[in-house]
Amino acid sequence: MEQRIKATIVVILIGVLGCDASHFRGGSIFWKQSKSGDTIDIDYRESWRRTSQTPMCNETVISDRINSSSEGQLAEVPSMYYDGYRPLFSDAFAYVCTDYSLLEDWQSGRGHIDFPLNISSRKTSYTLQFTGCCWIGSLVYGGDSHWKLQITMDTRVRSDTGRMNASPRVDFPPIIRVQYGCNHTINIPVGDEDNDIVRCRWATQEESAGVYRSFPNAVLHHQNCSITYAANYQLGWYPVAIQIEDFANTTSNSPLSSIPLQFLVSVEKLNASCNNERPKFVNFTLPDKACIGVMTDTDFLSDIYIQSGSNSSISEVNTVSPIGLVKSSLQRSNQTGHWHISVQWNPNSSNSINNVFCFTAVDDNGLSSDQRCITLLAGVPAAEIIRGSQMPAITQVTKTQTVWSVEFNRPDKPAARSAYIYLYLSNGTLVEAINVLTSPGVTYTYLNNRTRIHFTTSSSLLPGQGYYFLFGQGLVQGTEYCGAESKPVLDPFFWRFTVNPEATIPIEHVSCFEGQTPIACKEGLFNCTESWSFTSPCTQLNKLHNQLKFPYPGAQNKFILCDLAGKTYVGHCPPYEIFYEQCSTCNAIGITPC
Ligand SMILES: *[C@@H]1O[C@H](CO)[C@@H](O)[C@H](O)[C@H]1NC(C)=O
Ligand SMILES: *[C@@H]1O[C@H](CO)[C@@H](O)[C@H](O)[C@H]1NC(C)=O
Ligand SMILES: *[C@@H]1O[C@H](CO)[C@@H](O)[C@H](O)[C@H]1NC(C)=O
Ligand SMILES: *[C@@H]1O[C@H](CO)[C@@H](O)[C@H](O)[C@H]1NC(C)=O
Ligand SMILES: *[C@@H]1O[C@H](CO)[C@@H](O)[C@H](O)[C@H]1NC(C)=O
Ligand SMILES: *[C@@H]1O[C@H](CO)[C@@H](O)[C@H](O)[C@H]1NC(C)=O
Ligand SMILES: *[C@@H]1O[C@H](CO)[C@@H](O)[C@H](O)[C@H]1NC(C)=O
Ligand SMILES: *[C@@H]1O[C@H](CO)[C@@H](O)[C@H](O)[C@H]1NC(C)=O
Ligand SMILES: *[C@@H]1O[C@H](CO)[C@@H](O)[C@H](O)[C@H]1NC(C)=O
Ligand SMILES: *[C@@H]1O[C@H](CO)[C@@H](O)[C@H](O)[C@H]1NC(C)=O
Ligand SMILES: *[C@@H]1O[C@H](CO)[C@@H](O)[C@H](O)[C@H]1NC(C)=O
Ligand SMILES: *[C@@H]1O[C@H](CO)[C@@H](O)[C@H](O)[C@H]1NC(C)=O
Repeated sequence: MEQRIKATIVVILIGVLGCDASHFRGGSIFWKQSKSGDTIDIDYRESWRRTSQTPMCNETVISDRINSSSEGQLAEVPSMYYDGYRPLFSDAFAYVCTDYSLLEDWQSGRGHIDFPLNISSRKTSYTLQFTGCCWIGSLVYGGDSHWKLQITMDTRVRSDTGRMNASPRVDFPPIIRVQYGCNHTINIPVGDEDNDIVRCRWATQEESAGVYRSFPNAVLHHQNCSITYAANYQLGWYPVAIQIEDFANTTSNSPLSSIPLQFLVSVEKLNASCNNERPKFVNFTLPDKACIGVMTDTDFLSDIYIQSGSNSSISEVNTVSPIGLVKSSLQRSNQTGHWHISVQWNPNSSNSINNVFCFTAVDDNGLSSDQRCITLLAGVPAAEIIRGSQMPAITQVTKTQTVWSVEFNRPDKPAARSAYIYLYLSNGTLVEAINVLTSPGVTYTYLNNRTRIHFTTSSSLLPGQGYYFLFGQGLVQGTEYCGAESKPVLDPFFWRFTVNPEATIPIEHVSCFEGQTPIACKEGLFNCTESWSFTSPCTQLNKLHNQLKFPYPGAQNKFILCDLAGKTYVGHCPPYEIFYEQCSTCNAIGITPC
């Protein structure tokens, strides 16, 4: 008993020493078995009053991945049966800053602890706690009180996966704002690697210390982890303490793990009606739940575009980021009136494979957009469109052209959610958006570890008009993890084409020469038979793609020409000219005509 008492005293002392001011703003902890199997990876997020921390977070601190000073320990709670008087595990609950807000004076970061397993011990259930003092003072309930986050882990090997359970995971911002006098739904995006049943409940006093039941009148829906709240009570900050648990099946009542999520809800009186237009994400902002592959030591770059309500401006984009992700300052486009920030992330070997990035836009009325969360897979490749694989490869098409295709550099599977190919007029007007998930004209073919996506346009092409295609995120996706989505092509010059003008009937231009002297073409002037021994490329598939001209094997100054009936001809270039396949025309040697 002697040693136990000492241990308790030490814990209290740490608490007292760390208690210089009220500064805690919530966090979450989750776990899974490590790759090697003999330790558990405990990952967590913690949030603090920014002005209480060293260093105070800024973009330099984030991109340099500077360690913040730790605020106490994550410590194992003894269980009478197994632990006896053994000293138990504890480790600094240190973190690296990932996000901050100057306006609201907070910063938030991620940390990692390797929890060793004692294989010879028969212990299969562990409880760990992060405790200390104090929550920030200005709370409606629980201000200046002690904090406690508790996680329990059942480390028995599962018969279905052959590994230990992996707990649910959650990435959630430290602050959610709601408008006084309005009804709100707060969705907590929980995930579970093992696809277990996940349920949420309010944390008990034992699990959350001073902020137990501090968000009265809110209703937590256990099955889908959403909170509904009619904000008709006191204004101010409410701490919310939730436990998220995973279960083997819908009838089971014994959780495989229980993880904490604690955050703040700010109820604010705004000069806006409840159905005022909230900020929303527009254009090519990555959609919610997108899955992005980013190879290590390469840059992930993405733009977030926001449209504000008619009488408001965007004041901040709040993020929940993986370690090392930096964002630009907020800017407004004079052209479209949209606001935007750019984010950049270069994963290194210290990032785990699965990383979540969430973002929310807030306007100067205090109204927030919906939150979007995307998964960034570090070290997982994403398919890209191969430049030059566009079919038809010609830059001038007939107005009847409807079938197109382009090739990705990986053998990926079709998209599981909506993803779009866009056809634009050359002046930037959108003509058609093809949803590859639902459009019947979309098919996939595989060859040499590549995927070709064939798609059909249904708009009638205007003679003489110029067009271009853009390719959205995620037309195909990989098979590992959440399925890394193919990269977009948003360059209007990637695939431009024009439609043949109506007036000129598209017949091949014919000129005749005697030596180098042009002469009138007369019937019977030439010997128009030629023997050849190659396989004709005039196939149905090529016809479908409007591919009608091909290089002639063995001679650059000739080309093969197919007619629509599939008959094969040999064409001759004018003197001193050769055939350029990629441009589908003849031109002087060394001068690419397209
Ligand atoms: C960021 O914070 C660090 C550490 O406090 C400081 O040295 C640096 O000058 C700051 N950088 C910027 C851009 O504010
Ligand atoms: C942060 O701490 C970790 C673990 O304690 C260490 O490996 C790493 O080098 C530190 N990073 C910096 C930038 O000091
Ligand atoms: C592992 O557990 C066994 C049995 O409980 C115990 O005898 C041993 O000291 C433990 N080892 C460590 C390193 O904690
Ligand atoms: C909020 O929901 C309650 C109950 O459904 C309803 O009576 C009330 O009118 C709603 N308030 C607003 C501002 O929509
Ligand atoms: C969550 O569940 C509740 C109760 O079953 C339901 O009313 C609500 O619409 C659900 N919310 C979402 C986002 O599915
Ligand atoms: C549900 O899980 C529990 C605990 O693992 C198990 O005892 C029970 O048999 C399972 N029920 C079904 C219907 O699979
Ligand atoms: C609130 O909004 C109304 C209408 O938009 C405006 O007339 C009024 O000045 C605003 N009040 C404040 C305090 O901003
Ligand atoms: C961006 O979105 C807006 C509205 O959703 C639309 O009017 C505009 O054309 C889009 N811009 C581009 C480049 O697609
Ligand atoms: C946008 O407008 C602002 C103010 O009118 C001006 O200062 C700025 O230079 C403009 N930016 C661009 C890119 O045109
Ligand atoms: C783009 O071109 C089309 C067709 O020529 C025309 O109808 C449309 O008004 C143009 N749009 C813009 C923004 O110039
Ligand atoms: C396809 O890729 C796999 C794995 O990278 C490789 O083993 C195989 O040889 C490739 N097949 C072809 C036809 O390139
Ligand atoms: C036409 O060409 C063929 C094959 O090259 C040849 O056999 C034939 O004699 C030629 N006829 C004339 C009139 O040159």
